[in-house]
Formats: sequence, C-alpha cells, structure tokens
Amino acid sequence: SLPQNIVLKNGTEAFDSWENPPPPVYMQFYFFNVTNPDEILQGEDPRVEEVGPYTYRVEVGEGGKEYDSCNQLTPDYVFQRDLSVGDPEVDLIRTLNIPAITAMEWTTNNVLKEILEGLLKTYQQKLFVIHTAHDLLWGYKDELFSLISIFKPDISPYFGLFYGRNGTDDGDYLFLTGEDNYLNFTKIVEWNGKRSLSWWAAEKCNMINGTDGNSFHPLISKDETLYIFASDFCRSVYLKFSDMGNVEGIPSLRFTVPPEMFANNSDNSCFCNPSGNCLGSGVLNISVCKNGAPIFLSSPHFYQADKKFISAIRGMNPNKEDHETFLDINPLTGIILRGSKRLQVNIYVRHIDGFDETGNIKTLVFPVMYLNESVLIDKDSATKLKSVINTTMVITNIPYIIMALGVFLGLIFTWMACKGQGSAEEGTADERAPLMRT
Ligand SMILES: *[C@@H]1O[C@H](CO)[C@@H](O)[C@H](O)[C@H]1NC(C)=O
Ligand SMILES: *[C@@H]1O[C@H](CO)[C@@H](O)[C@H](O)[C@H]1NC(C)=O
Ligand SMILES: *[C@@H]1O[C@H](CO)[C@@H](O)[C@H](O)[C@H]1NC(C)=O
Ligand SMILES: *[C@@H]1O[C@H](CO)[C@@H](O)[C@H](O)[C@H]1NC(C)=O
Ligand SMILES: *[C@@H]1O[C@H](CO)[C@@H](O)[C@H](O)[C@H]1NC(C)=O
Ligand SMILES: *[C@@H]1O[C@H](CO)[C@@H](O)[C@H](O)[C@H]1NC(C)=O
Ligand SMILES: *[C@@H]1O[C@H](CO)[C@@H](O)[C@H](O)[C@H]1NC(C)=O
Repeated sequence: SLPQNIVLKNGTEAFDSWENPPPPVYMQFYFFNVTNPDEILQGEDPRVEEVGPYTYRVEVGEGGKEYDSCNQLTPDYVFQRDLSVGDPEVDLIRTLNIPAITAMEWTTNNVLKEILEGLLKTYQQKLFVIHTAHDLLWGYKDELFSLISIFKPDISPYFGLFYGRNGTDDGDYLFLTGEDNYLNFTKIVEWNGKRSLSWWAAEKCNMINGTDGNSFHPLISKDETLYIFASDFCRSVYLKFSDMGNVEGIPSLRFTVPPEMFANNSDNSCFCNPSGNCLGSGVLNISVCKNGAPIFLSSPHFYQADKKFISAIRGMNPNKEDHETFLDINPLTGIILRGSKRLQVNIYVRHIDGFDETGNIKTLVFPVMYLNESVLIDKDSATKLKSVINTTMVITNIPYIIMALGVFLGLIFTWMACKGQGSAEEGTADERAPLMRT
C-alpha cells in the first residue's frame, strides 16, 4: 500500500506554506462621470465618461490574517496610488443624487411627497450632485438622510456605496467542512443564522447555494455548475466552464458567469419584483434588500445585457476582456489561481410627478460605478503549489487531498465553535442588509 502518512505530512506542510501569505486581492472602482446633466433633465440621453480605476488592496490584517471577535476575516481597503488614476480624495465625480432618489421612491402618499419636495427645495437638492470619489465610496454626511434619521433611527445620516465596509465582514457564515463528502467542502449552510433568504418570490431563488467563492472542493469537473452565494448580489450566483488554460504553469479551468444567469426567462422570474415583472435581461433589481433604494446590478457597461440598456446611455462600451466575471481554478485542488469579479451599480431613475427635480428625465437604468475585484496567485505560491500538485499526481486519491486541505479546515472549526456560543443572540438579527451595502 501507499505510504500515505508520510506524503500526507509533506502535503500538509506544503499547503501550510502556500496558505501564508494569502494571494493579493485588489479592488478597483470605476465611476461614470455625467457630462450633460441639464440635457438629461430635458429628456436627452445621458452622456457619461468612465473615470478610474481607484485601486485598493484588500488586506486581511498584519501577518496575513485578522479576525474579529468571532474569528471572522475583516478586510481593510488600503488605497494604492501607483495602481490608480488620480486621487479619490480630490477627483470630483458628477452622478445621481442617490439619497434624494431613494427618498423619492420611499414616499408613496401625497402628504409625504409634499413634505419631501419642500425639503428638497429648502436644501437645494438637485438630481445630480458632485462629490469626491472617496466620499461616494466610503461615505459622506447627507443633509436629507441626516434629517430623516431623526425620525427613522435605522437610516444612517451617511451615504456611500461602500459605506461601513472597511474593516467589517459581510455577515456570519456557517460552513460545512467536507469531512463526510468532499463535494461539500466549505459549502455554506447558514448566513446570519438563516438557511435561506426571504427577499425573493420563490424558494429556488431564495436558496443559499455553494461556497462564498473563496474556496471550492477539490477535483472540479468541467460539467459542474459552480454555485457561489454572493451577499452583495443578495442571491446565489453560478459559473459554468468556458475554457481550459494555465496560470503560471499550473493547469486551470476557466469558469464564467453565463448570460442566462441574468436573463429574462422563466427560471429567473422570481428575481423580478413583483414576480415576473422583469425590466429585461442583464439587470437585477436588489431594491428589496437595500432598504428600498432603487439599485439595479449588472455587469460593467451592461455586458451581456439587453441592447436597450446599452444604447440608452452614451459612453457604454461592453467587452468580454474588461467586463466579464471569471475564475481560473486548478481542477485537482480546487484552488483559485486567478479571478475577477465585476459588477456595476446602477440606479433606476424616472420622472416622478410632484418632484420638479426629476424634470423630464427618461426612465433609465443609470450606471453609477463598477468594480473589479481581482486576485492572481503570486509566483512564489505558484511554485509551491506546483510541487504539491506534482506530488499529488503520483498518488491521486481523494482522502489525501482532503487531508492536505486540513489547514483550511482549521479556520472553519474554530469558527463553528464560536458560532455555537453566540447563537443565543441570533434571533434578533435583522435580515435586511444595512442601506447601501452594495
Ligand atoms: C517531501 O517532499 C519533498 C519534495 O517535495 C521530498 O524531497 C521529501 O523527501 C519529502 N519528505 C518526506 C518526509 O517525504
Ligand atoms: C480602512 O481601514 C484601514 C485601517 O483602519 C485604514 O488604514 C484604511 O485607510 C481604511 N481605508 C479607507 C478607504 O478608508
Ligand atoms: C467629472 O466631471 C466634472 C464636471 O464636468 C469635472 O469637474 C471633473 O473634473 C470630472 N472628473 C474627473 C475625474 O474627470
Ligand atoms: C453533502 O453531500 C451529500 C452528497 O452530495 C448530500 O447528499 C448532502 O445533502 C450534503 N450535505 C449538505 C448539508 O448539503
Ligand atoms: C440553487 O441550487 C438548485 C439546485 O441545487 C437550483 O435549482 C436553484 O435554482 C439554485 N438557486 C439559486 C438561487 O442559485
Ligand atoms: C424593484 O423591486 C422593488 C422591490 O421589490 C419593487 O417595488 C420595484 O417596483 C422594482 N422596480 C422595478 C423598476 O421593477
Ligand atoms: C421578459 O420575458 C417575458 C416572457 O418571455 C416577456 O413576455 C417579456 O416581454 C420580457 N420582458 C422584457 C422587458 O424583455
């Protein structure tokens, strides 16, 4: 029989050194600067100019890891001047006044409408505003939200597309270890104490499927659908095989988001609120999990979306290379070698009777910002991983690989222990994500 114990130990050590430091993750933000605000209010097509990237390194603390009180990783976003175009604290971006539009969408009766319109006039709030890129991302104190927060304390006086995201995690996860079945490795069973979501119109849309996208089970096959629960999409998403390749000499399978994921078809009708009320292919209305803010997600530049969204905005230039979401995964180990997650934040805007600020604006899915979160294995780690893979080739058996992954599992075990202690408090957890945590 095979000398498993020895190889096993060697494998574990190799993975240990591979895990530390974790591969560098970068978050890039691009904004759409509006150039013709007055014409848009007269019913013309918007013209936008892409600005950016503003690049941040996503750091998980000194020495590679930092945990909060419950052993969860809390990422810090650290600005990288040399990888950015311009300075986010100085660069001004003209875009939609999202707090004002959100407040308009909240008001359903005429009395409230009149009050709000009065406030908008008093504070001279216009449909388009100019803020620094930094403020739009990380938050600024908004006059309107400040006032509303006095009456509704659950509304923050601050608004930012990534407000409150620096140094915080995206909720409590409970994962499976894959001990019983390697296919369940790091599969999510609970998020914030819930086994499924409640925002969507049918059970299949509310399912929490797959992992969090940071890890996958070993022995990935081309025929698989890789499910990822993406809290920022307020839903589970999936990727399908597209190409074979290699990264730093390590064999990889490329998985991408197929166009049918956001298509207007019967599978997706439960994601259109109310059920079946789809605006078209390629956009996802996540207003229901953003406190009623009219936020629609799409791929950058409406890549793979209906032509009508692209042609409604001057300055859209969708292309596969820059705007596709993909993962290059080593099929043997399930480790991500390279990847890019790309998404665009849009605001649904329209003329609303009673609000002069909206002028004669067309009904639009209006792009505000898109992000590209990317990772690439560093050369050092690639070399180490290559040697692990070569050892594994000799003794290709599943338990061995799973044991080698034991170092990852260590993290999950401590986590579950913590989860057990804290579970009494979970009953009070609010299902709704805080406003504007995209
Ligand atoms: C561990 O692996 C290396 C090659 O990667 C090999 O030279 C060494 O003999 C192995 N050690 C043991 C204890 O098997
Ligand atoms: C995020 O927090 C870290 C640590 O407090 C800080 O160094 C960094 O500048 C912050 N990033 C932003 C964008 O505010
Ligand atoms: C965005 O547009 C505004 C208004 O035209 C302009 O002042 C600003 O410099 C532009 N921002 C960038 C980063 O180009
Ligand atoms: C683990 O995997 C097995 C076999 O694929 C499956 O039947 C089981 O439901 C999985 N467990 C969970 C909690 O998903
Ligand atoms: C979750 O997975 C099941 C198959 O296991 C599928 O039918 C369902 O559509 C998926 N839901 C989402 C939201 O991905
Ligand atoms: C978006 O979803 C919200 C909440 O479910 C719904 O009220 C609204 O009508 C939807 N917007 C559009 C344009 O379909
Ligand atoms: C969405 O699909 C349905 C059914 O196929 C169709 O009736 C509807 O017109 C489509 N909506 C849009 C906006 O394309």
